[in-house]
Amino acid sequence: TKNTDYYRPVYHHTPSYGWMNDANGLVYKDGEYHLYFQYNPYGSRWGNMHWGHSVSKDLVHWEHLKPAIARDTLGHIFSGSTVIDHNNSAGYGKDAMIAFYTSASDEHGQIQCMAYSTDNGRTYTKYEKNPILTPFDGLKDFRDPKVFWYEPAQKWYMIVSADKNMRFYSSTNLKDWEYLSQFGQGYGVQPNQFECPDFIQLPVDGDPNNKKWVMIVNINPGCPFGGSATEYFVGDFDGKEFKCDTKPEVTKWLDFGKDHYATVCFSNTGDRTIAVPWMSNWQYANVTPIRQYRGANALPRELSLYTKDGQIYMAANAVKETQALRKESRSVDNMDVKDEVVIDEIVPNNEGAYELEMDIVPGNSQLAGLELYNAKGEKSKIYLDLKNKRLVMDRTESGLTAFGEKSEPHAIENHDGRKVNSINYQNDFALGTWAPLSLCEGKTYHLDIFVDKCSVEIFVDGGRIAMTNLIFPTQPYNSLRFYTEGGTAKVENMKIYKLGL
Ligand code: FRU
Repeated sequence: TKNTDYYRPVYHHTPSYGWMNDANGLVYKDGEYHLYFQYNPYGSRWGNMHWGHSVSKDLVHWEHLKPAIARDTLGHIFSGSTVIDHNNSAGYGKDAMIAFYTSASDEHGQIQCMAYSTDNGRTYTKYEKNPILTPFDGLKDFRDPKVFWYEPAQKWYMIVSADKNMRFYSSTNLKDWEYLSQFGQGYGVQPNQFECPDFIQLPVDGDPNNKKWVMIVNINPGCPFGGSATEYFVGDFDGKEFKCDTKPEVTKWLDFGKDHYATVCFSNTGDRTIAVPWMSNWQYANVTPIRQYRGANALPRELSLYTKDGQIYMAANAVKETQALRKESRSVDNMDVKDEVVIDEIVPNNEGAYELEMDIVPGNSQLAGLELYNAKGEKSKIYLDLKNKRLVMDRTESGLTAFGEKSEPHAIENHDGRKVNSINYQNDFALGTWAPLSLCEGKTYHLDIFVDKCSVEIFVDGGRIAMTNLIFPTQPYNSLRFYTEGGTAKVENMKIYKLGL
């Protein structure tokens, strides 16, 4: 008989009880990162949405605080954002924290509301004249406001998901909003439903004189492997309209796993752009084999832009602060892998929380990778498929998988023009996900793999590929097997870290 909290991650953010989905209102102020989140305090399935609240000084250690914004007569408190009002635009004082969220109910529909805090985000007062924004055309799906300061216009801007578009608005006082434009119809994966936008400006290849705007669009459905996922569009913004660099059919993915959703970024972090993904998928989020609580956030990720083959892509890498989790470490001698090499014990007293870092040089092999497994024969495979130029993670035999239902994943175009689909599809959970290796320079692949009880996050070459997948092994994977097909690969600079708080 298992402890009902058996799968609770060791070093990922989870609610102490209740249900959690999207990260909300991410904001940094006075040395604290505020992580609000979609929260049901009354049960471990979706419902009664509040904004739960946790704070951290380092993005690694989280302290749970009381829910900050509770459900009210306007309905659920859905997703949104928080800004620091440096110039007192709203009249609640300099540096007041102003939260924007969607109130959602059958009676009032989805409408944008505001609340303010003058005690560093502990408590919020709802604006007495809520809502501040309703859809001009009666749209049903109109939610998840992201507010940001747009320097050239000296105004606040809001981007809101509106069915298959993102709508832009501007304001001087954060209360009265003027419609500017919309973007999205026909762009990216189809069919889709836009949710949880973000809009950020980032230097290309680290050049501060060459910045591009990126629209982050969370879509449900639309994930190449079924369910929900995060795409993004790179382009320019003139203060009114967003123009995307690529054709509507081009889809770029922020993460190539199946458990990465509702990803948005912190406000007020200066030159850094730090995103927090919710680590699940709406196809099965409510039925994962967990009881006392449900939902975890992925490691916070630093976003940056890089160029590959004349295209601009966004890299997402685990923030450097995660290095503070490394407790014990071990180096593994460089090895030539022909057929297989086994490492019997990954870490001593393994609780299923560790990091594996290595360079894989596939050489002439057709396939090179590793399998993490336990004494019950449950395993997750992570490999480079050089023939099809893919990084694959296959969790079909990873442990508990039968809770997944069966719905055919969408067969859709990936941004390299090829059809995408899951690998070894058995049900919505038991399958493999993949990413195109064309995003990397090739020859050598640097893999940084984080395992934490029920999750695997893979970062290749500093986040050019990120892949996040849940797993439910009935005991921790404590062994590792490197294997190749059709040639010899080298595994170099390998380090194993036991991770803990
Ligand atoms: C995304 C989402 C949002 C909504 C929230 C409700 O996962 O559907 O669009 O605001 O979850 O909990």
